[in-house]
Amino acid sequence: MTVISVDLSNCPYDIHVRAGLLADVGAILTPYARDRHLLVVTDENVTQAVLPQFESALRGAGLSCAHFTLPAGEAGKSWVQLEQLTDWLLEQHVERSDHIVALGGGVVGDITGFAAHIIKRGCAFVQIPTTLLAQVDSSVGGKTAINSAAGKNLVGAFHQPAMVLIDPELLLTLPPRQLAAGFAEVVKYGLIDDAAFFDFCEDNLDSFFAGDPDVRAQAIIRSVQSKARIVAADETERTGTRALLNLGHTFGHALEADTGFSDRLFHGEAVAAGMALAFRYSVRLGHCPAEDAERVTKLLKRAGLPTTLSDAGVTANGAALVDYMRHDKKMSGGTLPFLLARGIGQTFLSKDVALDDVAAFLDSEV
Ligand code: GLY
Repeated sequence: MTVISVDLSNCPYDIHVRAGLLADVGAILTPYARDRHLLVVTDENVTQAVLPQFESALRGAGLSCAHFTLPAGEAGKSWVQLEQLTDWLLEQHVERSDHIVALGGGVVGDITGFAAHIIKRGCAFVQIPTTLLAQVDSSVGGKTAINSAAGKNLVGAFHQPAMVLIDPELLLTLPPRQLAAGFAEVVKYGLIDDAAFFDFCEDNLDSFFAGDPDVRAQAIIRSVQSKARIVAADETERTGTRALLNLGHTFGHALEADTGFSDRLFHGEAVAAGMALAFRYSVRLGHCPAEDAERVTKLLKRAGLPTTLSDAGVTANGAALVDYMRHDKKMSGGTLPFLLARGIGQTFLSKDVALDDVAAFLDSEV
C-alpha cells in the first residue's frame, strides 16, 4: 500500500493506493460505518461494473450499505440530482458523524462531496474513485460542485474528503475512451509540476495503455503526489499555485459547453484539447517554444486524445467560445489570468489576456 498524505493544517487526510484494495474495503471502512451500515452514492455505470464487488467486500466484513444511483455522465451533476440525492440522504437518516461514500468517477465525487458539505451543515465523506480521471485528480483536493445553466462547476464548495481509496485494478473496468480521457489529467502533472514525469509519460504510454500494472500504479502515485503537494500549498486557490491544476481547463470547459456537456466530448478529452490549445496560444504570445507545444500535442495524440477544435467536434467560432469563458470563475475585470507552468521547461508564466485576443487565436485555429 502506498499512502500519500495531504498535509492540510485543518483537515489532513490520507490517500491509499493499492492494486486489489477494493477487496479489503470492508475492513478499511468499518471504523467509518455507524451501526455497520454505510450510505453510498454511485452511478449507473458503476452500479453494473463495481458495486457488486464493493458490496461483497462490505458483506465479508459484516457491513451493509444502501446506495443512491445517479445517471452516468455530466447529467448527474445537476440541481435536480442534488435535490434528489439530499432528499435520499435525509430519508436514510444521515447523521453529521456519518461518512458518505462516493463510489464512482468525477461526477459522483463532485456531487457527493457537495451534498456532504451542505447536508445537516456538513458531513464527512470518503472518495473511492473508479475512473482514472477521478483517481488522479478530482477525488483529491476537496473541490466539490454541480453545474448550473451558466456553466460547469459554478455552484460548489471546498470540502475535503476524510480519506481517498484508490484501487488501480478498477481501471480494468473502464472503456478505452474513458481511460484515455483520464490520461490527459496524468499528462497535466508532467506539464505543471514534474518535468521528469512528462518524460515518464512519453516513455511509458504504450505500457500504460497495454495494462502494465506497475506503470499504471506509478502513473497514479506520481500524479497524486503532485496533486497532494499542490493542494497542501494552496487549498482554496488563493495564491496561484492551485490554479496550475486548471491548465487547459478554461478552454476545455468552453469546448464542453459547446458540445452540450455530453458524451460527445468527455471532460478529460476537453482538457486534452484545452491543454494543446493553451500551449499553442502560449507560442502565439511568445512564451513557449513551438517545439514544446508540438511535444505536448504529439503525446496527447498518441493517447488518442483530441488536440484541435475539429478533433473535439467543436464548430463554434472564437467569439462564441469566449462567451462561455466569460462565466469562468477566474474572470476578473474582463481578462483571464493565463497560467502555464511548464514542468517540461521548468518555467512559470502568468499573463492576463484579453478575451478578444483569445477569440482571434481560436479563429486562427480553425
Ligand atoms: N481539478 C483542479 C483542482 O482540483 O484544483
